[in-house]
Amino acid sequence: MLVDTHAHLDDKKFDDDREEVIQRCVEEGVVCIINAGSNLSSSIKAISLAAEHPIIYAAVGIHPHDAKTADNYSTEILCSLAVRDKVVAIGEIGLDYHYDFSPRDKQKQVFREQIGLARELKLPIVVHDREAHGDILKILKQEKAGEVGGVMHCFSGSRETAKECMDMNFFISFAGPITFGNARRAKEVASYVPMDRLLVETDCPYLTPVPLRGKRNYPGNVKFVVEEICDIKDLAREQLLEAVLDNTKKLFGIDITR
Ligand code: NI
Repeated sequence: MLVDTHAHLDDKKFDDDREEVIQRCVEEGVVCIINAGSNLSSSIKAISLAAEHPIIYAAVGIHPHDAKTADNYSTEILCSLAVRDKVVAIGEIGLDYHYDFSPRDKQKQVFREQIGLARELKLPIVVHDREAHGDILKILKQEKAGEVGGVMHCFSGSRETAKECMDMNFFISFAGPITFGNARRAKEVASYVPMDRLLVETDCPYLTPVPLRGKRNYPGNVKFVVEEICDIKDLAREQLLEAVLDNTKKLFGIDITR
């Protein structure tokens, strides 16, 4: 009963064997994958993958890296995509001040517009926050993102930031980096986040967990993230998987059959 709440199976790194990878996930007990869009075309691919595979659901959105490609029509197009079957969130959206692939003003503008869209459609948001904790919190507050809530994907902030996000109705999700030796802060935050606020993900094909670092990531590897969090919180695997499944159903409003 594994759940991967953040994957990019539409990525070109899966072009040669996408169907085999998805089949392998099913065989390994993955019951739900949320495939996050990064721009308009990747969002369309996410919708097609969801249409073709019972275990896949889609989020549609423009990633901060691609914010520079957004124009006056983007929100309208996203709106038409967001009402399609099995679209469960707006994402991934946010700010990335590590790479700065899009100008920061444009990142903020596109982030704000997409929160507005999510509120209009009453869909949760999937937030990407890299080295932008202050502005992320400010914008989430100003744009009243708490009305719809969502998930802080691959959370890298402090305990205080996690608390502020949870106070605004957000879940905290951990990915491969929590298995890295130097992930002291992420481990600390994971031990602090209550079970009813916790999610797990791979962000595949990126962020491959230990012990497979260096290889292409895929949703089945979420088991390593699960094992790490079980160690940190001293939980049985079943307890954590049950909680993650419940949280996923609740946040994305989906009915997962085992
Ligand atoms: Ni991602």
